[in-house]
Amino acid sequence: MQIPSKIPVHVSFIMDGNGRWAQQRGKERVYGHFEGVESVRAIMEASVEWGIRYASFFAFSEENWDRPEAEVMTLMELMMKSMKKEYKTFMDNGIRLLVLGNRSRLSDKLNATIDEMQELTSSNSVLTMIIFLSYSGKWDIQQAALRMAAEGGDDIGRYLVTAGIPDPDLLIRTSGEERISNFMLWQLAYTEFVFTKTLWPDFRKEEFRLALEEYASRDRRFGKVK
Ligand code: IPE
Ligand code: IPE
Ligand code: MG
Repeated sequence: MQIPSKIPVHVSFIMDGNGRWAQQRGKERVYGHFEGVESVRAIMEASVEWGIRYASFFAFSEENWDRPEAEVMTLMELMMKSMKKEYKTFMDNGIRLLVLGNRSRLSDKLNATIDEMQELTSSNSVLTMIIFLSYSGKWDIQQAALRMAAEGGDDIGRYLVTAGIPDPDLLIRTSGEERISNFMLWQLAYTEFVFTKTLWPDFRKEEFRLALEEYASRDRRFGKVK
C-alpha cells in the first residue's frame, strides 16, 4: 500500500454506522459495535505506521446515554474489555491512551480501569490515542467556562478537556451523515472535514489512506491570503 503523501498531526474520527452495519446483516446493533472495535485497531496500527501523532475517536456522546439501557451497558462493557485487551498493543507500539469526557457519569469500575490504563501508558510517546467517552462539545465549553471564571483565566483552550492537544487537522465521519453531532465544537474551528458513506465497521486502512489523500489535496488557508 502506498504511503499517504501528507500526514496530519491530529486525525479525529466520528465513528458512525455500527448499528446500520449490523442491521444490514440481520443482526443486533451491538454486533456492529464489536466489529467497530476491529476498525479502531486497524486505524491505530495505520496511524503508528504513518507517523500520525494524535488519533482521536468519538466513542460515546452525552446524548448517547438516552439510547436503550441494554445498548448503553454493552457499550460501556465493550469499552472496558477493549481497553484491557489492547494493553499489549499500546505498550508494544508506544501508544499513550487518554479518555476524555464527562467522567462523573461513568461507573466507578470503568473510571478505575481508565485511570489505570492512562497511568500505565503515560510515558508512551509514539502516538496519543484519545477516546471521547460521555463527551459533548457544549458540555466541554460549559465546564471550561465555569473553571475559567473560577480561576479568573482568559484562555478557554487551556480549560477544555483537550488542553495541550493540538486541534484536529482532519475530521473523518463515516456512514454518510454530514454533521458534527455535538463533537469538539471549539477545537474543529479550522479542521478539514472528510465524509464517507462507508459504515464504521468497514472503515479500514485503505479507506483511511483515501481520506488522507483527500486531505492532502485541500488548501488550508486559515483565513489568510496566500
Ligand atoms: C456509532 O454507531 C457508535 C456510537 C454512536 C456509539 P451507531 O450506533 O450510531 O450506528 P448507527 O448510526 O445507528 O448506524
Ligand atoms: C455521533 O453518532 C456520536 C458518536 C459517534 C459517538 P450518533 O449516531 O450518536 O449521531 P447522530 O444521532 O446520528 O447525530
Ligand atoms: Mg449513529
